Amino acid sequence: MSDGELFSEERSAAVVAASFAGTPDPRLRQVMNSLVQHLHAFVKDVELTEEEWGFAIDFLTRTGHMSNEVRQEFILLSDVLGVSMLVETINHRTGGTSTESTVLGPFHTVASPPRELGADIALDGKGTPCLVSGQVTGPDGEPLAGASVDVWQTNEDGFYDVQQPGIQPAGNLRGIFSADAEGRFWFRSVVPRYYPIPDDGPVGQLLAATGRHPNRPAHLHFIVSAPGYRPVTTHVFVADSPYLDSDAVFGVKESLVRDVQEVDDPARAADAGLPNPFRTLTFDLSLLRADPAPPAAGSAAQPAVVEGGRS
Ligand code: BEZ
Ligand code: FE
Repeated sequence: MSDGELFSEERSAAVVAASFAGTPDPRLRQVMNSLVQHLHAFVKDVELTEEEWGFAIDFLTRTGHMSNEVRQEFILLSDVLGVSMLVETINHRTGGTSTESTVLGPFHTVASPPRELGADIALDGKGTPCLVSGQVTGPDGEPLAGASVDVWQTNEDGFYDVQQPGIQPAGNLRGIFSADAEGRFWFRSVVPRYYPIPDDGPVGQLLAATGRHPNRPAHLHFIVSAPGYRPVTTHVFVADSPYLDSDAVFGVKESLVRDVQEVDDPARAADAGLPNPFRTLTFDLSLLRADPAPPAAGSAAQPAVVEGGRS
């Protein structure tokens, strides 16, 4: 016998963690140690039965089988467990000084087509017309000329173009814009709608078994970047959308909610190239500089509800 301790119910975590003690990579050692401690504490807490263990193995196997190049069921599982949002939030702390981030989601699978400022991204002409605009600035309010603004959203039926090939034109409701000299961007689109995350697989079964709905509130995705600044992956959420308080993937942050306003002004409508009346959605974004270290834990956002946000 070696001098290693033998497995027992009481000492299980310590014994298994010790087996990883020689891991050369210190980060891997730390992660494996913590994983073992938490996993064993969980199994003991619920006194997992053999049937439940078998069900979990089968669930994870089905989750793997459901995944392919266009469908990642494990990420969806991470999303509905709030893990994606937690990882995102830990790794993109803003200290309340810049636009908060949220999940990327699975529908940025194609490169957005480059578009001119003012372009209409609703290629099929369906939906409630909406002028989306904003300004990209740095931490001192400096405008970020030429900032890249990549956007994608659902149509009024709650589907992305990649979910409806042959129904929506490719590139519908997507675009990548280059902000003007004042960091401003604007484009024509339609008001997005809430939609269900893909729920025809094991993750959908988990939601159904636990009485949870699969819906996400209406939102417009953004990836905004500028040289020398930290890019932000985020959404703007529509203030009166259903499910704002129960997003299936926990992506809503108060600071990201904006009203969609109705504008009845024929001159402005003509100027924007939209029928009157039309809707407007304004979303200003602020990026942190790339060089300083990110804010530490505990300095997490006190997201002031900024102008235009939900009050
Ligand atoms: C999305 O917003 O596109 C999304 C995010 C997480 C899971 C499914 C969809
Ligand atoms: Fe989305």
